[in-house]
Amino acid sequence: MTYDTIKVERRGAVTLVTFDRPKALNALSSAVLADLTEAFAACDADDSQRCLVLTGSEKAFAAGADIKEMAPQSFGDMYGSNFFAGWEAVTRTRKPWIAAVAGYALGGGCEVAMMADILIAADTAVFGQPEIKLGVIPGMGGSQRLTHAIGKAKAMEMILTGRNMKAAEAEASGLVAKVVPADSLIDEAMKMAETIAAMPPLAAMAAKEAVNGTYEMTLAQGINFERRVFHGLFGTEDQKEGMAAFSEKRAGDFKGR
Ligand code: CAA
Repeated sequence: MTYDTIKVERRGAVTLVTFDRPKALNALSSAVLADLTEAFAACDADDSQRCLVLTGSEKAFAAGADIKEMAPQSFGDMYGSNFFAGWEAVTRTRKPWIAAVAGYALGGGCEVAMMADILIAADTAVFGQPEIKLGVIPGMGGSQRLTHAIGKAKAMEMILTGRNMKAAEAEASGLVAKVVPADSLIDEAMKMAETIAAMPPLAAMAAKEAVNGTYEMTLAQGINFERRVFHGLFGTEDQKEGMAAFSEKRAGDFKGR
């Protein structure tokens, strides 16, 4: 399957998706959203694929939603089409996925990166929510996810002033899991994705569901949910294989059943 705005490559059990609108710094148009949701859904539906990496170019992961596409829209256009609601599909991806960010991750670019299960940054990465300078506010979850990730103090400051945050500060603030040299970003992201891909896939999906549950549930609900999911994994063949492999001092061979 080929796409107009992204490149998709299967590397073993990992799907590598690369934004491919270099002239617009990977601005997230409606066409990008359509391509991305199809590629993510294809990965989810493919038993041979166990993890996904989303990346951009050296200069820009994505410089935001497509300002030129949005500029002429009226309230009626935006409200009527429920503009940006389609991005929810990306957040419903069941397999674990990693955003590997180099260069600009601004506005919608920062928001997509924050939808990922794990965010890895190159030392060149720049995060920001500059929408206020355009007379709007974040519209793809930034006001919520940035605040969850780095706390109200810094999120409010960034969103009200439009100030950007470089990679080192993003790591210190808890926005990203890891900062790596720009020239090893893809290798590092692929290495992490391959590690995840070697894990029992049902446990991996369940783990991300449990962690993401912290956004939606109280502590008591979340702990109860975690325990039930933990119990449920005892119904899988991979749990038997994983625990047998431990006793037999060998690597587990996980089938996703
Ligand atoms: N939408 C549409 N086109 C964009 C774009 C965007 N978000 N960001 C960059 N581009 C285009 C530019 O218009 C330019 O195109 P032309 O060559 O046709 O003029 C091309 O990409 C290269 O950009 P620059 O010449 O501006 O490159 P630069 O190196 O001088 O600056 C930048 C880089 C600082 C990232 C600058 O491009 C910029 O500020 N971009 C906009 C960032 C922004 O405001 N993002 C938020 C968008 S709104 C949003 O995302 C809403 C939401 O909540 C989802």
